[in-house]
Amino acid sequence: MTFRQMAVGALALGLASFAGAVSRAEEPPRPDQLVDALNGVFGKHPGARAAHTKGICLTGNFTPSSDAAGLSKAPQFAKPVGVIGRFSLGGGNPQAPDNAQDNVRGLAIKFDLGAAGNSDLVMISAPVFFVKTPALFVEFLQTVGSGDKDKLTAFFAAHPESTRQNAWLMSHPVPASYGGVDYFGLHAFTFTNAAGESKVIKYKAIPEAGELGLTPDEAKPKGPDFYADELKERLAKGPIAFDLVAILGQKGDPTNDPTARWDDEDNRATAPLGKIAIDAIAPDATCAAFSFLPGNVPDGIAGPTDDPIFAARSPAYVVSLIRRSTPQ
Ligand code: HEM
Repeated sequence: MTFRQMAVGALALGLASFAGAVSRAEEPPRPDQLVDALNGVFGKHPGARAAHTKGICLTGNFTPSSDAAGLSKAPQFAKPVGVIGRFSLGGGNPQAPDNAQDNVRGLAIKFDLGAAGNSDLVMISAPVFFVKTPALFVEFLQTVGSGDKDKLTAFFAAHPESTRQNAWLMSHPVPASYGGVDYFGLHAFTFTNAAGESKVIKYKAIPEAGELGLTPDEAKPKGPDFYADELKERLAKGPIAFDLVAILGQKGDPTNDPTARWDDEDNRATAPLGKIAIDAIAPDATCAAFSFLPGNVPDGIAGPTDDPIFAARSPAYVVSLIRRSTPQ
């Protein structure tokens, strides 16, 4: 089965959730309302993603570590597989500046599982999200869109957890390269191995090049569009590699809130899952044909069942995919 066929399958799954969401009263915002909230702030850009609009499509491969299969029976942890990837900047602005400190970078990976289809992993360059529920996602974007600074101050006062992502970004340098920053999966996933043993984990991808950072003074003259050329130069010297690790959960760790880190998360034990190696830039059309869906995971990996942001994401991504695939 091709990537495209699998994307259509994933689309159908997303639509099923979408139909369920609109049929019940007292529900959180519908997937189309989440996308509308993004469009409200960033505008509509035909053919483009509603979020993480500016990005670069990639190809590469993933080689699992010898420990990975002991943690999860997912096919990508059994043998090396090809991947399609995409680096991106957060937000829905197609001209988002590469040299901004206050924005997340994204790394999305689609593992090609051959006959078993494909599986996605979507990460950002901060360990926390900026809201803990879809309703707050809409409220936050509408507040930003209103341009009313007092309202925004009041939002942050009422939701102090929403200040954490920006605080993280502003205490880290501007990434000098998409290949020089840590990426985090944020949500708590449950891994299950062939013996039926389960563990809760969070993903982290650590660049083999180390943290490549710029001070604001160094970042400024780079201008708004330096990542694409930097990537080409870096790839000319060899693949851009990341060590994918599982941050190991402990009993009682919350799984329902992507604005919260686990206690002492940076010093937790980790297990190596394998190496992501990006080896080439792919045509934009390759990534335009599908979405990277956070919920597209195979047997052996399960997303959190109590995290409302996780539940809201894939259906919203499908709405964005449908809108950007439909001629205007
Ligand atoms: C309710 C919460 C969220 C909503 C409504 C939302 C919405 C979206 C949408 C509509 C897209 C574009 C999808 C497409 O057209 O294919 C997208 C892409 C993306 N989102 Fe989210 N998102 C949410 C939470 C998150 C979180 C928690 C993360 C952290 C990992 C994240 C990371 C990304 C990344 C990296 C992409 C780009 C994927 C790619 O390159 O195709 N998002 N998001």
